[in-house]
Amino acid sequence: MTGGAGYIGAHVVKSLLENDFKVVVVDDLSTGLERKIPEQAIFEKQNISDTKKLAEIMKKHNVTGVVHLAAKKAVGESMTNPSLYYQENIGGIISLLEAMNQANVKKIVYSSSAAVYGDPVEEKVHENSQTHPQSPYGETKLVGEWLLKADEKARDIEWIALRYFNVVGAALPELGDTGVNNLVPMIFRALDNKQRPQVFGDKYSTTDGSCIRDYIHVSDLAHAHVLAAQKLITEKYCGIINVGTGQGFSVKQVMNTVSKVIGKDVNFEISQPRPGDPAQTVADVKKAASDLKWQATNDLESMVTSAWQAWQKMPPANN
Ligand code: WQD
Repeated sequence: MTGGAGYIGAHVVKSLLENDFKVVVVDDLSTGLERKIPEQAIFEKQNISDTKKLAEIMKKHNVTGVVHLAAKKAVGESMTNPSLYYQENIGGIISLLEAMNQANVKKIVYSSSAAVYGDPVEEKVHENSQTHPQSPYGETKLVGEWLLKADEKARDIEWIALRYFNVVGAALPELGDTGVNNLVPMIFRALDNKQRPQVFGDKYSTTDGSCIRDYIHVSDLAHAHVLAAQKLITEKYCGIINVGTGQGFSVKQVMNTVSKVIGKDVNFEISQPRPGDPAQTVADVKKAASDLKWQATNDLESMVTSAWQAWQKMPPANN
């Protein structure tokens, strides 16, 4: 498991352990936190660019499959420093696939993203919808999928790429998101700083004019990784699977949910639209239901409630 000390990674480790997987966490702690790695997991502090070390770790622990999350994930940063994203995300997966080849490991669950779709033309995007990533971050996630397809042909690997939609919440308050890159943490930070949360644009052609996204609880997302890993163990499979709820919420609806959860009006204001934001991105989740027997169980209110509890317990240091 790469990236197991990160926000989503720590949730995936927790779910894998709860489902009786033996887990080796490989993380360089560049953004992850060691305190998030449970004692039952073996921890190897290692950057994934070192192929030889990765292969040694795989052999030493008799690894039979990889769950790969270690990557850079801030969309904005990827626009200003694209080569860093290509280097880390594509260099990273190339090194990992080569190490798997050396250690004869054939199965991988890969963290992909709804960012590969860009500005979708359909109301709900399915796995065969066109991909038009709008950022180097999204591009690197898509290239990662291509590399998996190529290694399926070249080296007979089996893989599942999970395309995450907008991840929110925490299974435990101490596992909360410590980055402030996304809507819900940005609302919390504004409130902490006694500022008004911003709705980036309200003239989109959506029901209330603000952008619509598919928000998914991190615990539901983590469980999808367990089902994907189990599927690769029990049958031969290669494919891409969307992981969202299939239901869209507008930014204003998220603001109102936060108001409800915290018990006071967040008093948001409308600001300029953010360049590159699609009006609506919602997942078609039929494939997750049919192929993984997975569906989301948590609603938006429970996502925001758990995110708020985590924020209050451990607000990010860069507040
Ligand atoms: C959500 C909505 C903003 C902040 C990106 C990636 C995606 C995934 C999640 C990792 C948008 C609006 C935001 C604010 C706002 N990441 N917004 N006020 O851009 O949908 O998705 O992160 O894989 O792949 O592309 O997420 O949380 O930034 O924004 O109005 O202060 O909230 O315009 O409509 P996004 P986000």
